[in-house]
Amino acid sequence: MRFFLILILIFIFIFIFIFIFIKNFYLRLIRLISKKIITMFKNLEHLGIAVNSIEKSDAVFSALLGKTYYKTEAVESEGVTTAFYDGGNVKIELLEATRPDSSIAKYLAKRGEGLHHLAFEVDNIHERMEELRSKGFRLLNEQPKKGADNKLICFVHPKDTNGVLIELCQSILEDEEE
Ligand code: CO
Repeated sequence: MRFFLILILIFIFIFIFIFIFIKNFYLRLIRLISKKIITMFKNLEHLGIAVNSIEKSDAVFSALLGKTYYKTEAVESEGVTTAFYDGGNVKIELLEATRPDSSIAKYLAKRGEGLHHLAFEVDNIHERMEELRSKGFRLLNEQPKKGADNKLICFVHPKDTNGVLIELCQSILEDEEE
């Protein structure tokens, strides 16, 4: 009788061991597969539009979207003031120059107001930058920099992307949680 009890206990331990092992095995497998099939970009996070004046353009975008911007933010290092609108699936970022030597001021002088960049959200900006470099894309900055909306950002050279300036962005909070 005692023998059977010990046997049952051994089976229970084996079962628990296998369950834990399989659980870890599955987790490891899922991580391995998801790393392999992870997409370059998670989603289109925002559209950047260069404007001469946020206050003037607000009349247009408030009329279009039915509501005014939900926040403005100056990024001194870039010489830009931004205003964010809720565009449904995607945010709309208006960009106004604060200095004549900023890249937005140069863009406005050269091409006028209009669509400036597409910003894609990424999980790991360092890895995505490395991946893009390995695919031959030139990046406008060597390291991610602090952008508006509490994000780490990086731009891909528009000459390598059919003239479309592409921004990678990653929420800084997400980064710290990892
Ligand atoms: Co942007």
